[in-house]
Amino acid sequence: MRASLRKGSCVAAVTADRNAVGALKGLGRAVILLGPPGAGKGTQAQRIAKRYELPHLSTGDMFRDHIQRGTELGKKAKPLMERGELVPDEIVLGMVEDRINQPDCANGFVFDGFPRTLPQADDLERICRNNRLGCTIVLHMVVDHALLMRRLTGRRICKAGGHIYNVYNRPPKVEGVCDFDGSELIHRADDSEGVIGERLAAYDRQTVPLVEYYTDRGLLSPIDGMAEADTVTESISRILDGAKAAR
Ligand code: AP5
Repeated sequence: MRASLRKGSCVAAVTADRNAVGALKGLGRAVILLGPPGAGKGTQAQRIAKRYELPHLSTGDMFRDHIQRGTELGKKAKPLMERGELVPDEIVLGMVEDRINQPDCANGFVFDGFPRTLPQADDLERICRNNRLGCTIVLHMVVDHALLMRRLTGRRICKAGGHIYNVYNRPPKVEGVCDFDGSELIHRADDSEGVIGERLAAYDRQTVPLVEYYTDRGLLSPIDGMAEADTVTESISRILDGAKAAR
C-alpha cells in the first residue's frame, strides 16, 4: 500500500515561525490515527508518542477517566459508550479543545480516537490553525472488519500504564499481569461481541466519511493495519520521519 503525504504551503510558513522560537521537539503538527475500533490506533499512538516526543491524546481514555472520577461529563458519556455509540460532538469538542490548548501540545500531538465525525474534523482544523500548527497528518489504518472482532475480544489493558496486550497474539508473560509495571490487566466493558458490533456500525456510519474529507485535502496516508505491529510502526515512521525532516 502506498503512503502519500502532500506538503501544503502552510508547512513552510509554520516551519519558519517555529524555528524562529527554537521549538524543535515534536513535529509541529497534529498526527491523527484514523481507523475502526481495534485497528491498532492506541498501540501505534503509544509508539509514535515516544519516538517523536509528542503527547498522546485519546478521547476514549479521557472519557474513561471522567467516568472513573464520576464527573458530570463522565455520567453523560457512560451509557453511550456502554452501548457502543459515539458521544455527541458538543460534549467532545470542549473537552478536546481544552486539552489541545495545554502547553505540552504546542509542538504537536498524536490523537487516537479523534476526530470521528465531520464537525469534529472541522473543529480540529480550526484549533490547529489558531495554535499555528502545520498541516495535519492523517494515518488511515486499514484493517478488514473480520479481523477486528478477534483483536478486540482478545485485548487486555494494563490498569496503571495503559500497556496493550492480546491473549491470542501478544499475551503477557504472566496471565492477567502487566510485564512492565506488574499491574492488573483488564478487559474493557465495551469489548464484548454485542457492543463491538455497535462500535463498528457507528464507525461505518459516522467516521468513514472522514476518509474522503482528508483525501480531498491531500492529508491522508493509508497504512496497512493488518501487517504485524512492528511493520505498521515502520510504515508510519517513514511518513513521520519525512515530516520531521521537512520542519
Ligand atoms: P476508544 O477508546 O477511542 O476506542 P476505539 O476507537 O473503539 O478503539 P480501540 O481503543 O478499541 O482500538 P484501537 O484501534 O486503539 O486498537 P488497539 O491498539 O487497542 O473509544 C471508546 C468509546 O468512546 C467510543 O465507542 C465512543 O463511545 C467514545 N468516543 C471516543 N472518542 C470519541 C469521539 N471522538 N467522539 C465521540 N465519541 C467518542 O488494538 C486492539 C487489539 O489488537 C490489541 O489487543 C492489540 O494488541 C492488537 N493489535 C494492535 N495492532 C495489531 C497488529 N498490527 N497485529 C495484530 N494485533 C494487533
